[in-house]
Amino acid sequence: MRRSDTRCAGQRPEGETTAQASRGIFVTIEGPDFSGKSTLVRAMRPLLAGDEPPTHFTREPGGTPAAERIRALVLDPEVEMDAWTEAYLYAAARADHARHGILPRLVRGENVVCERYLDSSLAYQGYGRGLGVEAVRELNAWAVGAVVPDRTFYLRIGVEERARRVRKLGASLDRIEKVGDEFWRRVEEGFEELIRLDPHRIEVLDGERPPEELAELVVGEIRSLRYTCGGDG
Ligand code: TMP
Repeated sequence: MRRSDTRCAGQRPEGETTAQASRGIFVTIEGPDFSGKSTLVRAMRPLLAGDEPPTHFTREPGGTPAAERIRALVLDPEVEMDAWTEAYLYAAARADHARHGILPRLVRGENVVCERYLDSSLAYQGYGRGLGVEAVRELNAWAVGAVVPDRTFYLRIGVEERARRVRKLGASLDRIEKVGDEFWRRVEEGFEELIRLDPHRIEVLDGERPPEELAELVVGEIRSLRYTCGGDG
């Protein structure tokens, strides 16, 4: 990635000017199921462990007590629900997480790395479930407010690699993971469309590369974003 491509999507909290600000960097990790997001984050943790300001790791759905309760419901394979109900539940969890989990940390100057965020709702509910990307974006507008990622890393993997990982991980699939191939195709096409629409924010990573290599790359970018987007530079 060229440094000149760097753009800071996150807006600063109300009343805070760029000169005063030392806002943390908000990074999201996105990708289809089995793309290796959690493995990447696990490899990033030790690399960032001693850094100042600290980096907070979180995930969606979840990240706060209320949002974790919603996670348990929305991912329960036993619970059938309408696609709109699902979309509202993800947005409801996000509202709590964005305001009470993410924003306070960014304001304190900490960095936040979040596995999945708004792009997942756009891809899974907007494209995958067919609710329409604009409708899902609108539904989430109040939930996210000004908490938008400075940079998003998208892990892309091939269909064969995903099939291999599904076989390796075995049977315990949650409600979303149990849906068919056609759904997966729509979700992946949805992500690709989001990348086309916002290529400066979303950086594509080859999800089949070793997680340690990917972690080095992402951590390096977080550190340099600190200078271009945060208030330290
Ligand atoms: P995980 O596999 O990253 O834990 O995510 C759980 C599932 O939730 C995954 O299949 C994707 C799905 N999901 C959505 O459908 N919409 C969303 O907004 C989010 C955050 C996750």
